[in-house]
Amino acid sequence: MERDVDRWPAGESHGWLSWRLGPIELEPVVHVTTDLKVLYFGTPVVLIGSRNEDGSANLAPMSSAWWLGQRCMLGMGNRSKTVANLLRERECVLNLVSSDMAGAVDRLAPLTGATPIPERKAAMGYRFEADKFGAAGLTPQASEVVKAPRVEECPIQLECLVESVHAFGETASAIEVRVVRAHVEERLVIPGTDHVDPVGWDPLIMKFCEFFGGGSQVHPSALAEAWQMPHRRSGRAPVG
Ligand SMILES: Cc1cc2nc3c(=O)[nH]c(=O)nc-3n(C[C@H](O)[C@H](O)[C@H](O)COP(=O)(O)O)c2cc1C
Repeated sequence: MERDVDRWPAGESHGWLSWRLGPIELEPVVHVTTDLKVLYFGTPVVLIGSRNEDGSANLAPMSSAWWLGQRCMLGMGNRSKTVANLLRERECVLNLVSSDMAGAVDRLAPLTGATPIPERKAAMGYRFEADKFGAAGLTPQASEVVKAPRVEECPIQLECLVESVHAFGETASAIEVRVVRAHVEERLVIPGTDHVDPVGWDPLIMKFCEFFGGGSQVHPSALAEAWQMPHRRSGRAPVG
C-alpha cells in the first residue's frame, strides 16, 4: 500500500467553494493505492421486468444502469434469465425502486428465473423461482406499449425497447435500451412540468452491495452476504 498526501493550501481562496462556505481550513487528504475488489460506488436499484419464452413474467434487481437522454445502458451478467429474455423479446420495463422497498428487493436477491441454475450461481446459493412477483410480494401491472410487466409499487416505471447489445468483458453484456413510455407517481411530478421532483424522489441506492436511502443504510442485504462484503465494524450495521 502506497501513501500519497494531497494538501490544499490552508487559508487560500478556492473559488466557489470559499464563496459558498466562507474561509475554510481543509485537512490533508491521505490516499492509499489498493486493488479495489468492487467498484459499486452507489447507483439506483432497478427492477427489470421481462417476459419469459412462455409469456410469464420475470423480475430481476440490478443497479449497473446509467442514463443519457431517453436511453439507458444496462450492465448485466450473461448468466441471468433477464439477458436471455431481453435478447429474445427486445423489450423490458425498468421499474425504479424507492428506498422503502429494500425488503422486496432483498427477497429477490437470491433468486433466478434461469433453469437449470448456472453452476456459478448455484454455488453462490441462488434458487430458481418461477413467480418472482409473488416471492417479492410485489404486484404485476400491464404495460401500455411493451408486453413486459411493470411493478405497481414502483413510483417510476419506464417501458423500453432494446436498441443494441454489446459484449462487456468476458461474461457480461451492455444492453442499450430506449424509453418509449414513462409512468411516474403523480406526487413525484413537479406540477405543470414533465420533471421528477428531486426532493420527493428517494431512490434505493446499492452501494458496495448494501442498501442505502437518503444517505443512510436502510436494510440488511442478502447480496452483501453472498459476496462476503467486509465491514468496518464487526457484524452488520443496525438497520432494518
Ligand atoms: C441490489 C442488486 C443489484 C444487482 N445489480 C446487478 C447488476 O447490475 N447486473 C447484474 O447482472 N446483476 C445484478 N444483480 C444480480 C441479479 O439480480 C441476479 O443475477 C439475478 O439472479 C438475476 O435474475 P434472473 O436470472 O432471473 O434474470 C443485482 C442484485 C441485487 C440484489
